[in-house]
Amino acid sequence: MGINIAIDGPAGAGKSTIARRVAKELSFLYVDTGAMYRAIAYYCIQKGLSGSDGDRIGQQIQEAQVTISHAEGEQMVFLNSENVTSFLRSEEVSHMASVVSAIPQVRRHLLALQQSLAANHNVVMDGRDIGTTILPNAQLKIFLTANPATRAKRRYQELINKGVSCSEEEILKEMTERDERDSGREASPLCQAEDAVLVDTSDLSIDEVTERIIALYREKMKRS
Ligand code: DC
Repeated sequence: MGINIAIDGPAGAGKSTIARRVAKELSFLYVDTGAMYRAIAYYCIQKGLSGSDGDRIGQQIQEAQVTISHAEGEQMVFLNSENVTSFLRSEEVSHMASVVSAIPQVRRHLLALQQSLAANHNVVMDGRDIGTTILPNAQLKIFLTANPATRAKRRYQELINKGVSCSEEEILKEMTERDERDSGREASPLCQAEDAVLVDTSDLSIDEVTERIIALYREKMKRS
């Protein structure tokens, strides 16, 4: 069994940046579970499946084999052996990922992959239900959050840096809708595990958050 650090929280709280940094510092594997849901979303878009047809998606995704591999600390996602990593960050895929992740068969489909990675490696795994459902026995659980305006601003900056034109207002609206869907669904909704440490990143730098989590981890390991 590997050592497991679970990082959950809403979109734009800084999960992937922080989880990647913490993993690097500790020489753990960084596992981005959102990218797995994005791969399923990409599959559904390619197949022309409607997000409202949960039963059909539940059946069809049995044909969608998602696997991951790592190169220099970066996770690559494969869909039926094709590297789809570069297709997963569009707004269309983000929206569809939030829709398909509410379908229980989709969650079941990805559970074994996530749990086996954590069983076989020391991981920092980020997502929405890692501390509550996927790794309930994780050695450290963090719930990362930030106020909605800050989260939208970060996402806006990220897209502008990539040369994508967008409006901050639109991003805030889409992000709020996504949060509501992710928190309001019945299957493994986004919520803070009882034993998770809440870290609000609104006024903290990436370095400060990383240091805080590493300190919490060392503290935990000293006590166990
Ligand atoms: O972290 P992200 O933005 O890449 O996640 C994309 C979507 O996938 C998000 O809207 C919620 C969903 N998701 C989930 O339901 N459970 C996870 N463990 C990770 C992501």
